[in-house]
Amino acid sequence: MLTAMPIDGRTRVVGVFGDPVEHTLSPPMHNRAFAAMVLPYVYVPWRVPAQRLADAVGAIRALDLAGVNVTIPHKVAVMELLDEVTPEAGLIGAVNTIENRDGRLIGHNTDGLGFLRSLAEETGVCPENRRVLLLGAGGAARAIAVQMLLAGACSVVLANRTLARAQQLRQLLISVTPQARVEAVALDTRCASFLQELHTADILINTTSAGMYPHHREPALLSAALLRSELLVCDIVYTPRCTPLLAEAEQAGCPVLPGLGMLAHQGAISIEIWTGQKAPVQLMKETLDRELAKRERKNKDSGGRCDATDG
Ligand code: ATR
Repeated sequence: MLTAMPIDGRTRVVGVFGDPVEHTLSPPMHNRAFAAMVLPYVYVPWRVPAQRLADAVGAIRALDLAGVNVTIPHKVAVMELLDEVTPEAGLIGAVNTIENRDGRLIGHNTDGLGFLRSLAEETGVCPENRRVLLLGAGGAARAIAVQMLLAGACSVVLANRTLARAQQLRQLLISVTPQARVEAVALDTRCASFLQELHTADILINTTSAGMYPHHREPALLSAALLRSELLVCDIVYTPRCTPLLAEAEQAGCPVLPGLGMLAHQGAISIEIWTGQKAPVQLMKETLDRELAKRERKNKDSGGRCDATDG
């Protein structure tokens, strides 16, 4: 049994700013990691309404917090309140982790890197020279697409229900690595261009909220009949742990990557930013798995994706 460090004059406080934060899985995951690392840190969820975000960021400085995670609805708005953002966070256009470096607030985005590390650790796959088909065109798609391009993917295709949104995101991404192919198609299984991309992709990543609790009994975006067994199918939705898309992929014999690993890795990267020490990612994943299993048993979870309910 891991016990937390006593709260005393050496305690450093970190946490998450969001609204709502009732269902966040980050506090148990981070506090268990800090206990295992024997570090005097405590992680607290704060509900911060949009109109109080500037005050909350001021409190990081005033209270000398080591840093915070930032989640919905603040990931974009917080950027202009910081002293600096990393080049990746700038490209992604959103911040999910703030580092307090001696009073200077630096914005990072660990979502894409969290996905990349989960991909490498759980499947051994590296995006270099791979063809990636991304379902969705929101903030999560942007974070993962940027990271896939930076990691050397030769092609990133954005497939979205609303084609215009995919086309807008494509415009933002084409300059990230000019040698890569970036395309936008409609997410529509009756559409020849979508089927063509599905046929040639190496890695499929669902970044939409389709299949997320309470929609987990709805049909998957793609059926097993459309999936080749060589295709690696990833879903960043983690409630339920086995999404409708992953169930179809398993039926088709595809290797799969569930969303839990990305959630654990993006949290681990935050800890590394705040403490300079490597976080126990396996333990963090086990903690998440246990918390999610509890929720699934109670069946009253409000659902989540890696960047949707957590820092
Ligand atoms: P985030 O910024 O957190 O990624 P978002 O901006 O709300 O979230 O984007 C959600 C994504 O999921 C969008 O790509 C959305 O498609 P639209 O742009 O057409 O709305 C996609 N999405 C949500 N529910 C979906 C569903 N049932 N089927 C297909 N796509 C869906």
